[in-house]
Amino acid sequence: MSDAYRFTDHRYDVVIVGAGGAGLRATLGAAQKGLKTACITKLFPTRSHTVAAQGGISAALGNMGEDDWRWHIYDTVKGADWLGDQDAIEYLCRHAPEAVYELEHFGVPFSRTEDGRIYQRPFGGMTTRFGKGIAQRTCAAADRTGHAILHTLYGQSIRHQAEFFIECFALDLIMDEEGRCRGLVALNLEDGSLHRFSAGMTILATGGYGRAYFSCTSAHSCTGDGGAMILREGLPLQDMEFVQFHPTGIYGAGCLITEGSRGEGGYLVNSEGERFMERYAPSAKDLASRDVVSRAMTIEIREGRGVGKEKDHIHLHLNHIDPKILAERLPGITESARIFAGVNIARQPIPVLPTVHYNMGGIPANYHGEVLNPRDGAPDAVAPGLMAIGEAACVSVHGANRLGSNSLIDLVVFGRAAALRAAEILAKNPPDHALPKEAGAKAIERLDRFRFAKGDTPTSHLRLAMQRVMQENCAVFRTGEILNEGREKIRAIFDDLPSIKVEDRSLIWNTDLIETLEFENLLLQALATVESAYARQESRGSHAREDFPKRDDETWMKHSLARLNEKSEVRLSYRPVHQHTLSKDVKYIAPQARVY
Ligand code: FUM
Repeated sequence: MSDAYRFTDHRYDVVIVGAGGAGLRATLGAAQKGLKTACITKLFPTRSHTVAAQGGISAALGNMGEDDWRWHIYDTVKGADWLGDQDAIEYLCRHAPEAVYELEHFGVPFSRTEDGRIYQRPFGGMTTRFGKGIAQRTCAAADRTGHAILHTLYGQSIRHQAEFFIECFALDLIMDEEGRCRGLVALNLEDGSLHRFSAGMTILATGGYGRAYFSCTSAHSCTGDGGAMILREGLPLQDMEFVQFHPTGIYGAGCLITEGSRGEGGYLVNSEGERFMERYAPSAKDLASRDVVSRAMTIEIREGRGVGKEKDHIHLHLNHIDPKILAERLPGITESARIFAGVNIARQPIPVLPTVHYNMGGIPANYHGEVLNPRDGAPDAVAPGLMAIGEAACVSVHGANRLGSNSLIDLVVFGRAAALRAAEILAKNPPDHALPKEAGAKAIERLDRFRFAKGDTPTSHLRLAMQRVMQENCAVFRTGEILNEGREKIRAIFDDLPSIKVEDRSLIWNTDLIETLEFENLLLQALATVESAYARQESRGSHAREDFPKRDDETWMKHSLARLNEKSEVRLSYRPVHQHTLSKDVKYIAPQARVY
């Protein structure tokens, strides 16, 4: 390791990486348990991407009509196209109501019904009586639910004396020879200082890698840094082929128009003025599951019924809705549509297009948040000292397709669960803060590789090339041929990494260097995504193979695991989907045809 570097060393019981909804809920939970807790975040906490979540958080409260958490389980299993682990789904849906009431008590300013209860709206795929009716299950704070939750959780974490390392970029994990995670190395962006965090438990809450794609609803910062750290340690990522396209990204800009807009009565229309979702999903129509709606929109455009000069997008109509309701329940998207599409939603339709929104895949974890390191004969073996939660993780409750509003509830239910489990583990095994010899050397070697890169290609060129390949070769519809071309192109971009040029060698506010490190993080996950997608020869949820149009439960009802070998080549293996529940009051839901 270069002598030029000095680390500042820190010791904590728990270190959480990321201050989105999951990271903050775990931070708060760990601090409440009296654990010495640090949260490391590359952004100011309230700028984390949870702030952009609009439509709401699912929980069977039954405030707006009948509901039952068992119906929520059914919807989630079906939405996941039977790739979700049903024990984890049971945990999520059963604990959802208490998690929402807890948020209410923490101070989240939910919208209210006339009689003062939490307002709930319909969302795609959320039903009553096992698919018979439409449920109003999504609890909302207007269309700024993520913003409300994030600010509340940050305030509560500060109140409980959690410590924050803000604008501090996590570089890599520190693992010992037994495969236990001992903490991590981070770079303080403001002053360029390097930090080693020794922790009894390291919790990755680093979000998704939406920015691997050209058009996405994700912020520039959504680079899935934790997922790449996992790959660099030879650990696997799970179900990476499952990438969700949200039906209503603003055409051209990619910004999110919440599904809550369809929950409030909005509908999609093609160039013939037809409400085409009636053909694709006769019962749920515009409130079918996201993968179903995104595919229908793509087919309409392909078959020449798109709107606009190029016939390359679709119209979302909200102009029939009472302006009072728009102002009260959808103020955020009213503003986004005006700024990014030049549209007054009370009068004009919004131009929309399916846009990358969420990664169902990620770091395999159980429902306590413990990271899995499956081995032959031990598919649920855990990697000690390491947890993953939120979009960074694959628990797997979302399987092949996540239902809208199941993401915010996942953040808080599993953020809380991880804190509880960490406290339990650390009570039995207090942290050993003696770091392994050479701890941090690998992270520094990588930092130097990019900091002193001698090539002549700006990072932004390679990043754009990657984003375009992912957009074209790993899209809503896929074929073996197109995916294979994507594999070759992404590999070629990877092989071009040594040609990168980083303008500035400083460690202080060097955004070019940070974007290069983030780009490598994205690229490793892009490799895992195209390889996993090429291998899966069936259609399930968001993975629609035109050459294998049917779901094949016999061969493919299993989770993909993608690891990198020493040459950064992807090696795939599989682990079984959990086909059991946690308790006797819930029955396993056997695979069925998935119609809406
Ligand atoms: O459409 C939305 O408001 C997004 C919600 C979600 O992804 O859960």
